[in-house]
Amino acid sequence: MQIQPPIINIFEKAVRKAGKYLMRDFGEIENLQIQSKNVGDFVTNADIKTEKILLETLQYYYPNSSYITEESDNIKGNEETIVIDPIDGTTNFIHGIPLVGIVIGRIYNDEITDGVIFNPILNEFYWASKGKGAWCNNKRLRVSKRKDFTSCVIGTGIPHANRIYTNYLDEINNVSKNCSGLRRMGAAAIDLAYVAAGKLDGFWEKNLNLWDVSAGVLIIREAGGKVTQPDGKEWTINSRDILVSNLLIHQELQEKMNKN
Ligand code: IPD
Ligand code: CA
Ligand code: CA
Repeated sequence: MQIQPPIINIFEKAVRKAGKYLMRDFGEIENLQIQSKNVGDFVTNADIKTEKILLETLQYYYPNSSYITEESDNIKGNEETIVIDPIDGTTNFIHGIPLVGIVIGRIYNDEITDGVIFNPILNEFYWASKGKGAWCNNKRLRVSKRKDFTSCVIGTGIPHANRIYTNYLDEINNVSKNCSGLRRMGAAAIDLAYVAAGKLDGFWEKNLNLWDVSAGVLIIREAGGKVTQPDGKEWTINSRDILVSNLLIHQELQEKMNKN
């Protein structure tokens, strides 16, 4: 078992505290006051409260860090950047579907160095630190070993409302007719965690934000997987589109999803 680095202990403290609060709300979801930000893009009291709890804990230990968070204005500091998605999978949460993640990532010199994804409902705590492997509840994570594309299960994020782009149905068609099945989990962080855990063999999605993927990218890399943009170019912290896999099927997934 890998001893958790101090920063992961602090991230864990923050997400477990926030997770307790979220669990209560998950139990009485109907009482949540929901305000619409966009069609299909809701901000609940839970998102805002969770972010507040996370920031309180993190700023106590890291008062000089910069913060990029989904629900509030960026905070400018002079050290590393901490990226927060208080609930990834808000739509799942609102619908009582237990696939959600509280996500924290640390970025230094444009590189993700540490990250956690916590699903409080399933009590799954994923973490990775550069060079220290990827873990879930003390178990080492490894990407799958499948190389036969027809036996692979691939995740994606099906766009909706104003996120629709022209060729997404072609992508889905080209991939799904060649593999064992597609999955749409509804939480990009969970998709990435599942690729790292070998449950999904690959995943792609477009128009994501850094807070959706920061921790997941590192968790996949530390589990032996590959992360690029869907056209095969290098993924950077400024990329909006992502393609990840167990490495073995990367090229094939890339070719299939981009086939005209
Ligand atoms: C969303 C989820 C979803 C993805 C969306 C994201 P949110 O994050 O990750 O799976 O398809 O693009 O915005 O809004 O639940 O934090
Ligand atoms: Ca998100
Ligand atoms: Ca969110």
